[in-house]
Amino acid sequence: MQTKAAIPLEIPDVSDLCVLVVEDDEIMRLSLEDRLRLEQIPARAVGDLAEAHKQLETGEIDLVITDIRLPDGSGADLFEDIYRRYPGTPVILMTAFGEVSDAVALVKAGAVDYLTKPFDLDAFVGTIRRNLARCADTRLNAEHLGIHDESFRPGSGVIGKSAAMRRIERLIARLSKVDSTVLVTGESGVGKEVVATLIHYNSRRASGPLIKVNCAALPANLIESELFGHEKGAFTGAAYRRIGRFEQAQSGTIFLDEIAETPLEVQVKLLRVLQERVLDRVGGEKSISLDVRVIAATQVDLDEAVKQGAFRSDLYWSLNVINVEIQPLRERREDILYLARLFVKQHASAMDRPVIGLSGEVEAKLLTMSFPGNVREIKNILERAVALCDGPRIMAHDLVSLEQLPGDASGPEETTTLKDSIAVAERQAIQQALHRNDWVIGKAAADLDISRKNLWEKMKRYAIEKEGVR
Ligand SMILES: Nc1ncnc2c1ncn2[C@@H]1O[C@H](COP(=O)(O)OP(=O)(O)OP(=O)(O)O)[C@@H](O)[C@H]1O
Ligand SMILES: [Mg+2]
Repeated sequence: MQTKAAIPLEIPDVSDLCVLVVEDDEIMRLSLEDRLRLEQIPARAVGDLAEAHKQLETGEIDLVITDIRLPDGSGADLFEDIYRRYPGTPVILMTAFGEVSDAVALVKAGAVDYLTKPFDLDAFVGTIRRNLARCADTRLNAEHLGIHDESFRPGSGVIGKSAAMRRIERLIARLSKVDSTVLVTGESGVGKEVVATLIHYNSRRASGPLIKVNCAALPANLIESELFGHEKGAFTGAAYRRIGRFEQAQSGTIFLDEIAETPLEVQVKLLRVLQERVLDRVGGEKSISLDVRVIAATQVDLDEAVKQGAFRSDLYWSLNVINVEIQPLRERREDILYLARLFVKQHASAMDRPVIGLSGEVEAKLLTMSFPGNVREIKNILERAVALCDGPRIMAHDLVSLEQLPGDASGPEETTTLKDSIAVAERQAIQQALHRNDWVIGKAAADLDISRKNLWEKMKRYAIEKEGVR
């Protein structure tokens, strides 16, 4: 699926990132501001620290470029404040000739770059653009998405640089103040679980539990007791009382993943829980009241599932109080390089490999790919690339997309490593088993002699999807 469609090459869009220029010399400040306007880079320009702080407090600043000497303090103080209070916001220094050593010291301390005055405006713009594209790696994806503090500045682009993902960040921030049920939708691998997790950790329930349930991976006959729990002796084999996932989520959030896979009889019970906020353990006599926020996710078109009678419409309406729809990666291409660079860093550090980035050729190639497996796919591709790469930068031949794996003629000539061959064989076996069993996961899993959960995970990993589900 590499370069089939003639999608025009795009340069990462930095037009909705905002630069703060701090420069006390008015003429200089105006000329920098003018030039940024000409380049269509949103910017605000101020002349002292006090004004700079006011701007930073708006939460809308993505990058700061500051003079070292300012009327009410120094650029070094500003850098330190930003480093503490707005971690991850890149700072570039503008220094006079005599202050270069100060600037170098600050770069060692974490400032991203410096420019020595006098500089020409092209160099200025070049530095800003380069750093904006990186600012990109926003707080290294806010520490691998563990974000749940002030470092999550809604709209700053942690989960993606595209306008679409920034909107979702703002929505997450708004959702943190209410308890509404949320339905997260989008294709496989777009980041539904990431978003659900962020909603929880940015809500007032953050200190409560986040219980994740994959409704597709649970054996059909156990879903009910898994979700709602059961009393001792409720059915043959129920030797002990079991506390269900809903009860485990008390005072926190339950994440019902792949909600469309819930059997109809369980849907009725879910509806009661959602509407009345009480649950009955299987075989239990009294109802238990619940203080749980529900977030559900699905890649299935629930409207369609409702029409086909596979999903209850009343449950759909109860879940779909607020819908967060995540676009496929191919429709938010501004996120591709951001995520790619980020994943290179994450994988390189996890595998302890000295890979520092992507070659220009690889970046260009990534921008033409369509990523049917979305973010998961680009993440997997780069994991492989980091593992295969033997230089500091990932080259085109390190890039093997999942679609190429089954060894078709358009793929790489040979898959030499054992890992590749196994992946090819495994993907094929899974596809065949699914095909033989009309895509009934339980049956295919039995056929392959692996668990439903295991099969589900492998399907995700190899981006295997039933044709025509969307
Ligand atoms: N914005 C993002 N930033 C960083 N990593 C991301 C982002 N979105 C997704 N990922 C990563 O991509 C992978 C897939 O994400 P996730 O599990 O949230 O997708 P999903 O929509 O729930 O997929 P599925 O429908 O297949 O369950 C995960 O490894 C996740 O960490
Ligand atoms: Mg998921």
